[in-house]
Amino acid sequence: MNFADSEVVASILEQDGYHLINEPKKANLVLLNTCSIRDKAEQTVRKKIKSFNSYKKQNKNLKLGLLGCMAERLKEKLLDEEKIVDLVVGPDSYKELPNLLDQVEHNQRAVNVILSKSETYGDISPVRIHNSGINAFVSITRGCDNMCTFCVVPFTRGRERSRSPESILREISDLYQKGYKEVTLLGQNVDSYLWYGGGPKKDFKKASEDQKKNSKRFSDLLLLIASSFPKLRIRFSTSNPQDMTIDVIETMAKYDNICNHIHLPIQSGSDRILKKMNRLHSRDEYLNLVKKIRKIIPNCGISHDIITGFPTETETDHQDTLSLMNEVKYDFGYMFAYSERPGTFASRHFKDDVSTEVKQRRLQEIITLQQKHSFERNRRFIDTECSVLIEKSSKKSNKHWSGRISENNVVVFPKYNYSLGDIVNVKVQDCTTATLIGDINKVKV
Ligand code: 5AD
Ligand code: SF4
Repeated sequence: MNFADSEVVASILEQDGYHLINEPKKANLVLLNTCSIRDKAEQTVRKKIKSFNSYKKQNKNLKLGLLGCMAERLKEKLLDEEKIVDLVVGPDSYKELPNLLDQVEHNQRAVNVILSKSETYGDISPVRIHNSGINAFVSITRGCDNMCTFCVVPFTRGRERSRSPESILREISDLYQKGYKEVTLLGQNVDSYLWYGGGPKKDFKKASEDQKKNSKRFSDLLLLIASSFPKLRIRFSTSNPQDMTIDVIETMAKYDNICNHIHLPIQSGSDRILKKMNRLHSRDEYLNLVKKIRKIIPNCGISHDIITGFPTETETDHQDTLSLMNEVKYDFGYMFAYSERPGTFASRHFKDDVSTEVKQRRLQEIITLQQKHSFERNRRFIDTECSVLIEKSSKKSNKHWSGRISENNVVVFPKYNYSLGDIVNVKVQDCTTATLIGDINKVKV
């Protein structure tokens, strides 16, 4: 999300006469787009800020701005705590940047952290900073109404709202014409997408009958994109189990260009902890959804997010998480130790009572189990032929390409005379926990 937002910011500033350069040392303005999801993310930003002390000494004109969730969470306090910061701007205020920068030019430090109920930046064409020319992020919703008790996002990114299908299609069409091969539709909760003319999702009930009749849900949007761009690969992230509907899965099955991968965070396998986290589904409901996905799309890649050591988590709760992982056998996942975030429901009502050692030990057990499952899941591709979108040179060898298959697994294979952005059939011969290793049966001449 921050990658996508930075591209919106670059576009707003280019229109105001700024231009992007690659070297912060030579810049007159540096903007750090920040994350607050865990304490460690914020500590990383704090270190990065310190590293600009020497740059500021060398270049007296250098201005430093903080964007994103940390700006929204800490507001003016950031200016007190970090003396070299000139500008603090939250995720919904980027259109104000030109005005705020005028203020900064006049040596006034500036802050704008007003959250919006309707801003989606739908009218901005992002400047592609992270430019592979092959895949791009397209944001379709902003904010989150879920209020998981551990999560800071609803406070930093505000109410959930969806972007108009027209502006999404316009952005994708532009990418397609520029030769992009894959887009990832982004949102904290993409399955909850709902366009009824603009405004927060929670106000849908107040919409007119006409607006309700013409409204578009996520499955409608997916179908529209997949049918309009049959040669473009489409991915999306993140899905919340309670909002994922069967018609989304059926639309995925119907269109070959929608990739067979669902990122489906579970957070914990224990019903008691899921309830305390205010996750809006039970373990059984989640497992039923996985069953439905596998019935409709047998080969679908499924990944997860899991948090270990949420307040009061016992060994039994932890075992429930391990047993859920054993039932699902995820392809891969993102695993974290619980980090208390100030202001969240959990921080106000539950004591962070699982020790760091126990959190880390449980985290390690989960990571080890996931590695075993990833290896087992990867092995199912051995001796099969997969369609791979070439994305970059392999990190380990510049004689090999690295790309991904529909299910999101990474494949490495010899380059021959193929090029970045080609989609090629690769025969998988071997695998590690993280990578499929293949070769090509018929080589392009
Ligand atoms: N501590 C640890 N992990 C967290 N996440 C969100 N908030 C926290 C927190 N306070 C994780 C969740 C979420 C992912 C984006 O980050 O697993 O799905
Ligand atoms: Fe945070 Fe939950 Fe919203 Fe995800 S769904 S952004 S974890 S509140």
